[in-house]
Order: sequence, then structure tokens, then C-alpha cells
Amino acid sequence: MEDKKLIKTNSEDEGFLDLALRPTTFEEYVGQEKAKKNLAVLIGAAKKRKEPLEHILIHGPSGLGKTTLAYIISRQMNSSLRITSGAALEKAGDLGSILTGLNEGDFLFIDEVHRLNKLVEETLYPAMENYNLDIIIGKGNSAKTLQIQLPKFTLIAATTRISLLSNPFRSRFGVNFKLDFYQQKEIEKIISRSASLLNVKTEPEALSVIAAASRFTPRIANKLLKRSRDFAQHHNKEIITADSARQALEMLEIDHLGLEGTDKRILTTIANNFNGGPVGLKTIAAAIAEEEATIEDVYEPYLMQIGFLARTTRGRVITEEGAKHLGLKFSKSAQGSLI
Ligand SMILES: Nc1ncnc2c1ncn2[C@@H]1O[C@H](COP(=O)(O)OP(=O)(O)O)[C@@H](O)[C@H]1O
Ligand SMILES: [Mg+2]
Repeated sequence: MEDKKLIKTNSEDEGFLDLALRPTTFEEYVGQEKAKKNLAVLIGAAKKRKEPLEHILIHGPSGLGKTTLAYIISRQMNSSLRITSGAALEKAGDLGSILTGLNEGDFLFIDEVHRLNKLVEETLYPAMENYNLDIIIGKGNSAKTLQIQLPKFTLIAATTRISLLSNPFRSRFGVNFKLDFYQQKEIEKIISRSASLLNVKTEPEALSVIAAASRFTPRIANKLLKRSRDFAQHHNKEIITADSARQALEMLEIDHLGLEGTDKRILTTIANNFNGGPVGLKTIAAAIAEEEATIEDVYEPYLMQIGFLARTTRGRVITEEGAKHLGLKFSKSAQGSLI
């Protein structure tokens, strides 16, 4: 149980691992070629003009490299990165004190930016547009607005839930990048680099076993690599073999495609209790006692990526491939007409 949680939550252990394995240059940052190419142009041009970068929005599922990218961008611009998160900025004043503490050219990184409350979000608008901060002093009739000129900074915002951002907010970013799930080969490259940083040898086939179970997500891939290393070391093996990787996965109750208990419960519930769907997210959440947001953010993106689950206007459906993988049966003819 605890092991499984470690993969998805930000435990101290994971934080440490993330830091040790985090790429620091675009060369080390594997994949996401489109984003990297656009960023290279953006950074090159801004450097020539000696101006700060435009504000950048990065979205995509957890563990795909949003925070890492923010660090690399600030490094390329030889500037520092201040980090906060949408949930941490409760009051306009919290944002104000961070913004006034920035230096010209600095980066402000707001993680999980969809969690910003409206008031803070609106304080951010003039700051993003004209580097102005409006502060209201006093209350009622005697209230006055004081305008402070901020240093020219760049906001990098990251979110797993782009759909929750308002249009006015979205439109204030100069660029908007979506990070995609990685390819099998890219993940193999990432864990191969991680293995050498961790000073552990791997069989080529072990890399492919781990990559296939990584949900095409670097953070999970690194975590699985570490678990496989522990497993191999525990059995006094110098090298991670495909076999020890498979056994480590088995211990973690993760199958060869990276599915774990909750994924299976989601798919099984749709197939068995709702005849393959469509069924609403709320209903699934209640049936398996899991939070809607967790299902939507953590499980569904990958299940959709591998074509096991589909979202329709009337709810979620399991696909034939999904049912086949789990050996589930449901009456296809009685399933909603959308697949
Ligand atoms: N493109 C990449 N190349 C190599 N490693 C990566 C890449 N993207 C992410 N990682 C690894 O995965 C970990 C998680 O990435 P992170 O940037 O924290 O993801 P996010 O912020 O999107 O949740 C990083 O510490 C790094 O080790
Ligand atoms: Mg992050």
C-alpha cells in the first residue's frame, strides 16, 4: 500500500529522487521536441533583445516534466526561479509580497495554478500585463488604491487541469505548452541516464520492462527504476535484470502496462456494474470510493492514452482493448452507442 502511494505522492523520498535525477539542460531533457524547439526560439530572441521572456503556461499530467522545464528555462536565461503554488497563495497580499521581492528578469513559477483563487488571479492580471501591482489600502470609503511598479519578471505557470483556467487568464500568457506522454524509447533513454546517475547497471531488456510499466511518465519510470534496483540489491545482484524488474513490479502490484489496483477497479466497475458504460465520473468515483479529481488527473489520462477508456458526452466507456486486457466481458450491443 505504502509503496504504491510513493509513486503518486510527493513524499520526501520522491522529492529527493526528483532533484537528483532532474535534467538541468535542454540536451538532458529527453523528448517534448516541439516545446523545446519553440522555447529555443523564444529564449534566443529574448536574449538578443535583452528582454525578459513572455509569460509561459505549461500543462499536462503530473510527472511529465513541467517543473523541470521551468528550472531549465530560468537557467538558460541566467535568472533565478522563485517557486510557489496556487494553493499557497491564499490572499492578494501573499502574491504581492512575492512579486515585490523579485528582481528584474526573475522567474516566478506558480505550480498547480488552477488552484489560485479569483482574487489572487485578478491581482496577477495587471502584474502580467504592465508589471503593475494594485494594492488597496484601508477599507470602505477611505480605501485607496496604491499602484506599485514591479520589476520586469516572467511568470511560468504549470497545471494538470488546463480546462479549469479562465479565458482571460489563459490569454495573458504569451505561450502555452502542452506536455505529452513520452514514447517508450524516450522513457528508456531517461531511465538509462538515471541508472548511471544512481550508479546501477541495467540489462537493456530491464529498461524496456520498466519503461513499458512507467505509464510513459518520467517520474514513475524513475521510481520504478529505484524499486527494481532495491529488489536486485536485496537479492545480491549487481545488475538489474528484466526478471528482477518484473518481480519488483509484481511486488508493487503493477502490471506490465503500468496498471495498478485503482486502474483495474475503474475499468472493472465500468464493465461489470454499468455494462461497459457510458457512466458518469461521479458514479464511478462513488462506486470505487476514490475522489473524482484523482480519477480525472491521475488515472484517466493514461487509460485514455493507451486506449482502454474513452470519454463521451454521456460519460466514460471501457473500450474493447481495455476489456480484453483485463479479461472482462460485457454485452457490447447493450453498451452506449458512442463506441
Ligand atoms: N524530459 C525529461 N527528461 C528526463 N527526465 C525527466 C524529464 N521530464 C521529467 N523528468 C524526470 O521526472 C521527474 C519529474 O518531473 P517534474 O518536472 O517534477 O514533473 P511535473 O512538474 O510535470 O509533475 C524529474 O525530477 C526528472 O527526474
Ligand atoms: Mg511539478
